[in-house]
Amino acid sequence: MCGIVGYFGFRRADQVIISALKRLEYRGYDSWGVAVKHGNGLEIIKMVGAIGDVENYSLAEGSIGIGHTRWATHGKPSEINAHPHKDCNNKIAVVHNGIISNFQSLREELERKGHKFSSETDTEVIPHLIEEEYRGDLIEAVMKAVEKLKGSFAIVVMHAEKEELVAVRYKSPLIIGVGDGEWFIASDVPAVLDYTNRVIYLEDGDILRIGNDGFKIWNNGKEVERRVETVPWSIEDAEKGGYEHFMLKEIHEIPRVVEDTLFEYLSEGIDLDVSFSAGISEIVFVACGTSYHASLIGKYLIEKLTGIPVRVEFASEFIYNPPPMGRTLVIAITQSGETADTLEAMRMAKKLGAKVVAIVNVLGSTATRIADNILYTRAGPEISVAATKSFIAQLVVLYLLALKLSKMPGSEIEKLVDELRIMPELVRKILEREEEIEQIAEEIAKYEDIMYIGRGIGVAIAMEGALKMKEISYIHAEAYPAGELKHGPFALLGRETPVIALLVSDETYEIMLNNIKEVKARESPVIALADEEDREVEKYVDFVIRLPKTNPLYTAITYSVALQLLAYYTAKKRGCEIDKPRNLAKSVTVE
Ligand code: G6P
Repeated sequence: MCGIVGYFGFRRADQVIISALKRLEYRGYDSWGVAVKHGNGLEIIKMVGAIGDVENYSLAEGSIGIGHTRWATHGKPSEINAHPHKDCNNKIAVVHNGIISNFQSLREELERKGHKFSSETDTEVIPHLIEEEYRGDLIEAVMKAVEKLKGSFAIVVMHAEKEELVAVRYKSPLIIGVGDGEWFIASDVPAVLDYTNRVIYLEDGDILRIGNDGFKIWNNGKEVERRVETVPWSIEDAEKGGYEHFMLKEIHEIPRVVEDTLFEYLSEGIDLDVSFSAGISEIVFVACGTSYHASLIGKYLIEKLTGIPVRVEFASEFIYNPPPMGRTLVIAITQSGETADTLEAMRMAKKLGAKVVAIVNVLGSTATRIADNILYTRAGPEISVAATKSFIAQLVVLYLLALKLSKMPGSEIEKLVDELRIMPELVRKILEREEEIEQIAEEIAKYEDIMYIGRGIGVAIAMEGALKMKEISYIHAEAYPAGELKHGPFALLGRETPVIALLVSDETYEIMLNNIKEVKARESPVIALADEEDREVEKYVDFVIRLPKTNPLYTAITYSVALQLLAYYTAKKRGCEIDKPRNLAKSVTVE
């Protein structure tokens, strides 16, 4: 996601800021920018694409400045949309991470007062709001402006005529790097580690001012003290936020990703424009890999909640035998928006006259240019090759889409939406108990074949669980509908082939228990995933991974997070590389 840097000290601010931004490159970005105070003016550069060599850039000399790497959310990647953003008089510059959810109404109000906007971003309202409040005291103006903002944000503000930086943290991380006679502000520790390992982690609601007399922090109008901590990590460790691998870090980001994606589409009700669905008679999903499995869950949800018939096609196969496209809506799911097979399927569907909607994580990617309509997931950049948080974000969009298309009574939909809102909390509970999953992973790491089984929604969850396992642990893992076991896969079972059984508390429960007994009779070790209130299953299986009780529809989230952790710890036990598995790529741009 976006990166923020601020510098106040004695060095050339442009060089410090650009080198610090480069330390945040691992987070992913599509454009960047820097502002430096020079005399009573601001010099600003903004660029699209990668930063390259620090030496290539030289702004005016100055030792106060701010910088930003942008991962586009509101508005495409472009110089105009890149930060820093300014007020009308080019005096106030702001960099921002997060989302200003009420920016549209603020912008309209400011425009009525005569403010001119140049970008499509939510951020640009901030310098204009500060300008409205500014009477010569920057901190006071920022405090007043921030009261009007809704959403989540970390911002750093500078004024051309002021020897100071002001920053605010609200639900989006921000730290201070404390040097000797110099201070750094950053969204993430790696940005400052070349200069200092002494940092302060700001807390929600903190407002910071750095000036020639040092720094002060306020919260709720009162001055507060925050502890200076010494970071014990190297830069590389810090990029992973202290986690051993990006994959684990990204799994731990899931509660936040679910919150952000819900935030995007939920207000009073489901705020998702589905005008693209008018008059359609069927839906066809096209996707690859993990996104294909999200599509299978999408099919289950849409058919169950709306009755609209749905087909799911591997994007790589779709082009050979495209279905007739009368009143078909094609939904492409792709994290990167760059998977060649998915793009090809989208182009063909359009040529055949279908309406194409894309569920995409990367703004400005090729898929967003082909699609007629786009539904963004808010997973942020995903570094690890194996998709984790982006998959869960896709599921969240699919839940909302299915609920929005549903003809169920409003009260039932509201109940399901309320249950969806607590998913971040349930995922946090799973993450708190990951040691239990780690212990089970240690048991299964010795096997070379694993079978995953499920029924109903459990089939697609099992397929994604098996994919995670084979991708990163190199264990041969297969998934089957439990009812299919006796039609062949039974021949593979035995002591050397553990079975991971997904037990969902819905109409499939009893028959799944029977299937588990059949598997046990073939001597396969069985690990069951079940809800925490289940007291039956433990009688028949070797291990149980207990998951928070939820509506069975939402087990696609809870069970998938558990299976991601299981794959992660199994691969770790086997000493695999994890973030970059052999022979695999994050984005497959060839057919
Ligand atoms: C590659 C990645 C997978 C991903 C698939 C589809 O195979 O390794 O993790 O699921 O591509 O990618 P997309 O960006 O289209 O979702």
